[in-house]
Amino acid sequence: MNIALTYNLKKKDKSKPVDYFSECDSEETVNAIVMALKSKGHHVEAIDVEYPKLFSYFSKNRVDLVFNIAEGQSGKFRESEVPAILDYLNIPYTGSDTFSLALALNKALTKKILKAENIPTPNFQVFSTGNEGLDPVLKFPLIVKPNCEGSAKGINKTNVVGNKEDLFKKVKETIEVYKQEALVEEFIEGKELTVGVLENGKTRVLPILEIDFSGCKNSGEYFYSWRMKEYQGNQELGLVPTFHCPARLDKETEERVKEVVLKTHRAVGCLDISRTDIRLDKDNVPYVLEINPLPGLDPRESNLPIMAYAAGMKYEDLIEAIVLSASERKGLN
Ligand SMILES: Nc1ncnc2c1ncn2[C@@H]1O[C@H](COP(=O)(O)OP(=O)(O)OP(=O)(O)O)[C@@H](O)[C@H]1O
Ligand SMILES: [Mg+2]
Repeated sequence: MNIALTYNLKKKDKSKPVDYFSECDSEETVNAIVMALKSKGHHVEAIDVEYPKLFSYFSKNRVDLVFNIAEGQSGKFRESEVPAILDYLNIPYTGSDTFSLALALNKALTKKILKAENIPTPNFQVFSTGNEGLDPVLKFPLIVKPNCEGSAKGINKTNVVGNKEDLFKKVKETIEVYKQEALVEEFIEGKELTVGVLENGKTRVLPILEIDFSGCKNSGEYFYSWRMKEYQGNQELGLVPTFHCPARLDKETEERVKEVVLKTHRAVGCLDISRTDIRLDKDNVPYVLEINPLPGLDPRESNLPIMAYAAGMKYEDLIEAIVLSASERKGLN
């Protein structure tokens, strides 16, 4: 197949905030996907997405399929930018469509849908100004997050708050720095799980990945904060979480988690691939934190490839499975 890989490259630019490019992809990831596609016999061109280059490129060059991992440029709908252009030009692409990408990027809106579907998600409140009163239903500790970011941007250990004073300080700071609403939700103390769905033929849930932060105590970090994600594996900083895949769960909990994850994938309308982040509470209830329709695909560090390896797949099989799922869906075979 003639495939174009669309991506946004992580850049080094000291004039930007330290987390500015966190959502973007590294050269290693881009190269790994190109190699994987080539190893399966595809012709590949990789395109770093910069407006208006993308529009003119696809107006002139026809491809069979776009392998899309582009995070987009800016704003609440950034992940939908490339799919919207491709829809307009009638070019098929891998992964979720414009609608699901925009929905999943809005955590609060997604959570409203999950609640309506009886999928457990932590109780929450959205703050637009920071002058709103706190919903008395919410029980401390609470966590404050930008409503429309990923890669744990704006999420540090000080975002977990135990009283109103710290809460409102962090809410105002989040609104000010990230220029968007702040999402406040109950902090679920318990196992951290993340679960991949790969729709190749029959929809399948990959082996559940458990991330254990107990070995990171000396670093001061204790959950998947921005620092934990950004410097994951750094021995000197002590940011080396332990991965267990499959997760250490009893059969009943494992089944419940998988069921909740598939329901979430379908409720948000995700296609081909997704990764859902979960916290188990003390009664083993799986609380969905969010769903990622564009999960990281770094062959060494990202969570979803780790799950694929645990399922016995090689990196190139994972990439090809995404291509096959999209091709079948679009009737390209
Ligand atoms: N309600 C919560 N209870 C417990 N931990 C939480 C909660 N919300 C977030 N966290 C912690 O913060 C991390 C990042 O939160 P979340 O997944 O919502 O952000 P994100 O920026 O969208 O992440 P990603 O990097 O997966 O895109 C979670 O993986 C978890 O460790
Ligand atoms: Mg997450």
